[in-house]
Amino acid sequence: MCHAMRLIHISDLHLTDLSTVSPQEIRGKRRLGHFSWRGRRRHRHLPVYLEALRRAVRDAQPDFIVVTGDLIHIGLPSELAAAANWLEALAPPGRVLVTPGNHDLYADDSWAACEEHWGRYLHLSPTADAGGEAPFQRGFPSRVRLDGMDLYGLNTGCPTPLGAASGRLGSGQRRRLGRLMAQAPAGTLKVVALHHAPQRGLMPGRKALADAGALEGLLGDAHLVLHGHGHWSRSYRCGGARVFAVGSASTADAAFRQFDFHRQGGGVQVRMSLHVRGADGDGFALGEEDEFSVLAGC
Ligand SMILES: [Fe+2]
Repeated sequence: MCHAMRLIHISDLHLTDLSTVSPQEIRGKRRLGHFSWRGRRRHRHLPVYLEALRRAVRDAQPDFIVVTGDLIHIGLPSELAAAANWLEALAPPGRVLVTPGNHDLYADDSWAACEEHWGRYLHLSPTADAGGEAPFQRGFPSRVRLDGMDLYGLNTGCPTPLGAASGRLGSGQRRRLGRLMAQAPAGTLKVVALHHAPQRGLMPGRKALADAGALEGLLGDAHLVLHGHGHWSRSYRCGGARVFAVGSASTADAAFRQFDFHRQGGGVQVRMSLHVRGADGDGFALGEEDEFSVLAGC
């Protein structure tokens, strides 16, 4: 990181309109998800809020954007295609990393369409040791190597039973994350992105990351962790890493986080600012600020 770098984190866009999807065309959990969208979600997640956020993000001129999942509602191939169009209007794939959420990989047929439409934004890694893993776990963690920073994208999304919104990494992803972080050059700033919260006890069991405890043991080697899923913006520590959750990008209180990194001596100075949509229009106001250093002494 020879110069300043700006990274923006957004999550939980829930950007699709299901009004043209007939409940008769869909089955099982998707039908219940459609019912939830008709009754509640379509009034909460509005395109006008999301477009205001996209303008604010573009105006901030980030070097890179991390999108931590739940871009859509019920994992339909048509929704995954629509979300790809939205991403293309945001920034080119070389400047965006997407990690899927539970609403993206909602059903068994979601992953094939996810890989087809979002492939360039997922930055999947070739995986040699993926025997026995589900197809949607094999290419993860993704890794994007920026100037002095490694971004690791985990997939916690997987089809779940009715009423559940939980996630799982699996032992293969966790093992590969540990290996990638151990192999990073000395002085690399390590940033982990995922949809579900890595902290045990933050979410009720039906919404939790099933193997959060095992992930926590790995996060001692990470510096920052970015996630969504809860539709709230909080910061805390887990396994020694600083963790930042960001709220939904498409609600009346839509939010994004901005991280400005400056290399200083052996360390990196980080200035984090949370930007929250104001109640009276398109503008985003400063919601929270923090400044800290990482990697000092390396
Ligand atoms: Fe979620």
